Amino acid sequence: MPPAPRRPRNHTAAEAGHLVPEGTLIYLDVSFTACPAPSTVHEHDYGDRRPSGRSETTRAAVVAPLIEMRDLCKSYFLDSEELEVLHHVEFLVEQGEFVSILGPSGSGKSTMMNILGCLDVPTSGTYNLAGTLVGSLSRAEQAQIRNSEIGFVFQSFQLLPRLNAIENVELPLIYAGVGASERHRRATELLTRMGLGDKLRNLPTQLSGGQQQRVAIARALINGPSVLLADEPTGALDQKTGAQVMELFGEIHAEGKTIVMITHEPEIAQHAERIVTILDGYLTETDKVAAIAPTHDWASAAHHPSHAAPTEDASLQQEGRS
Ligand SMILES: Nc1ncnc2c1ncn2[C@@H]1O[C@H](COP(=O)(O)OP(=O)(O)OP(=O)(O)O)[C@@H](O)[C@H]1O
Ligand SMILES: [Mg+2]
Repeated sequence: MPPAPRRPRNHTAAEAGHLVPEGTLIYLDVSFTACPAPSTVHEHDYGDRRPSGRSETTRAAVVAPLIEMRDLCKSYFLDSEELEVLHHVEFLVEQGEFVSILGPSGSGKSTMMNILGCLDVPTSGTYNLAGTLVGSLSRAEQAQIRNSEIGFVFQSFQLLPRLNAIENVELPLIYAGVGASERHRRATELLTRMGLGDKLRNLPTQLSGGQQQRVAIARALINGPSVLLADEPTGALDQKTGAQVMELFGEIHAEGKTIVMITHEPEIAQHAERIVTILDGYLTETDKVAAIAPTHDWASAAHHPSHAAPTEDASLQQEGRS
């Protein structure tokens, strides 16, 4: 059975960035089909919302997907042997979406994450992030786009052990050249919103795992990145604390932030609006019921011969739904 179509959403200009005047509603097509044709253009009449001073015929700026991977392949080379681990990936994420990439060990999740996070480049195909073709950038430019557009959250928190909570959160602002008092004010405010107002001076070792992850999330958000990129963010947490972190992700998403979360746990993936499955380097849109089906068997699915040619039928078989 094909996945049910999803209703398009309206996004505010604040969610969509600076392309249109503030307060303008922008129509974005986020139908369940992951990848509209490359030439698709989304336009929407201003109608009653047209700002004063604009002509009758003015239309909203076209808003491209925030993340757009097209026919992307990634190979590793060992002793001149090529091992292709991502195969012809088509992956689009619109502004404001919360998407999970769900897959078993060895399926290519970290490889995807590294490319999404501008830490690595594809072997072929294209990756556009916020309208920038990442493969065409120098290493310094990649670092720049990484710092400005992406907030990373890792399984192991990766806080600096000698810095307290507030100093950890201030770090990206130091790199961005923000002055000390402004850094302090913003980090204090964000940590307080995360429920850590009484832990500002605690070192990571003086915080629980859930508290450390909240500090790491605050650090990821402090620069106002376009996308929060999370790799197994609950992997080191117990179930209850993991659920609290997912609740926080839900709140961050509700405020308009785009989130891409990588996980091997179907229950965690369920917290996203949309789930994309990765098996043996092939990406497939998956409906949320299928992703959590008790018959789901990663081990055999990952090596299922039908996966060489990923079709909807094949993915349904692997999900045990056929
Ligand atoms: N630098 C590398 N050189 C060669 N092969 C690699 C390299 N990095 C990853 N691979 C291979 O690419 C495939 C995908 O690896 P990747 O780390 O992306 O998987 P993963 O889904 O993140 O797994 P896990 O859940 O265990 O972290 C694996 O077969 C792995 O052995
Ligand atoms: Mg990995």
